[in-house]
Amino acid sequence: MKVLVTGGLGFIGSHTVVELQNEGFEVIVIDNLSNTSLSVLDGIQNITGKVPQYENIDLREKERVQDFFKRHQDISGVIHFAASKAVGESVENPLLYYENNVSALVYILQQLQQKPEANFIFSSSCTVYGQAEKMPITEDAALQQALSPYGNTKAIGEEIITDTAKVTNINAILLRYFNPIGSHPTAEIGELPLGIPQNLVPFITQTGFGLRKELAVYGDDYPTPDGTAVRDYIHVVDLAKAHVIALQRLLNKKNKSKVETFNLGTGTGSSVLEVIHSFEKVSGKKLPFKIVGRREGDVTSAYANTDEANNVLGWKAQSTLDEAMASAWKWEQKIRS
Ligand code: WQD
Repeated sequence: MKVLVTGGLGFIGSHTVVELQNEGFEVIVIDNLSNTSLSVLDGIQNITGKVPQYENIDLREKERVQDFFKRHQDISGVIHFAASKAVGESVENPLLYYENNVSALVYILQQLQQKPEANFIFSSSCTVYGQAEKMPITEDAALQQALSPYGNTKAIGEEIITDTAKVTNINAILLRYFNPIGSHPTAEIGELPLGIPQNLVPFITQTGFGLRKELAVYGDDYPTPDGTAVRDYIHVVDLAKAHVIALQRLLNKKNKSKVETFNLGTGTGSSVLEVIHSFEKVSGKKLPFKIVGRREGDVTSAYANTDEANNVLGWKAQSTLDEAMASAWKWEQKIRS
């Protein structure tokens, strides 16, 4: 079975390629290397012994997308990760996000609708909920309006897929990630943030390694147990495994509707201070940090109700916060050695 993974050299994409190969799938990757490097292919091969086919295609080039699908008629499923994903950057440069995250999706779906049958897994995000009313968040929670442009592209992407699946032979599963962290236990692949990390965990591990002076904690005046914001940090390998299970669900026609949606989280919320303490525990290092003002656009709390993922999709996150943090720290030390 041949599976296309767009953005397959990225953080979540590369971990998913490994799990697909472990399950015996033949994988072909499209990645334009805008937020990763070719060396990730070596990491994948070092783990599985297999190099996925790879093509450097910018999915904003419609003709290149058409040509790819003409040359690869035997693709049985597509997992679509390729997208820009920095919330702050999306506010500064919305059209980059609408072009990259929406046009590319449309071009891929235009090709899939021509196939007798198409299975499509979409990388969505808990960001579509904004600040949800109730914790833990269920899939039927109201979607926030007027999110960041990044969040908008995920919400619009879900609508485009839903509208298209209704009138074509495309079956889709939308996976709403909470906060992916950590790295493969072999430390052969992991998160490669370019420049100053926007996300908490890579900033923590870089600070722990001495690359950053201290962590700025964005606010300790939230209505949470310790005043810092709460998120659902999920190990990237657990997340990757969910994608394989979701794809197999569609391939085996187990889906109950043309489009299904699942939250992918641990179901447990952790505060920023709890994440810091987890790092200190697994690394044995004291993390220098200071409390500063809240970050624009941050929500107080977001963690998943995982009943649908556990009971319908048949997937459950296995790793603890400490295990995920330990893998992130192992990776940081590896890439700096
Ligand atoms: C987590 C917590 C920050 C950095 C974003 C996207 C989301 C998804 C995951 C793509 C927050 C705090 C952070 C720092 C801090 N990405 N923090 N100091 O914002 O929950 O989610 O990444 O799908 O769509 O929105 O993740 O890691 O940036 O922040 O205090 O230097 O850590 O305020 O409470 P976030 P994050």
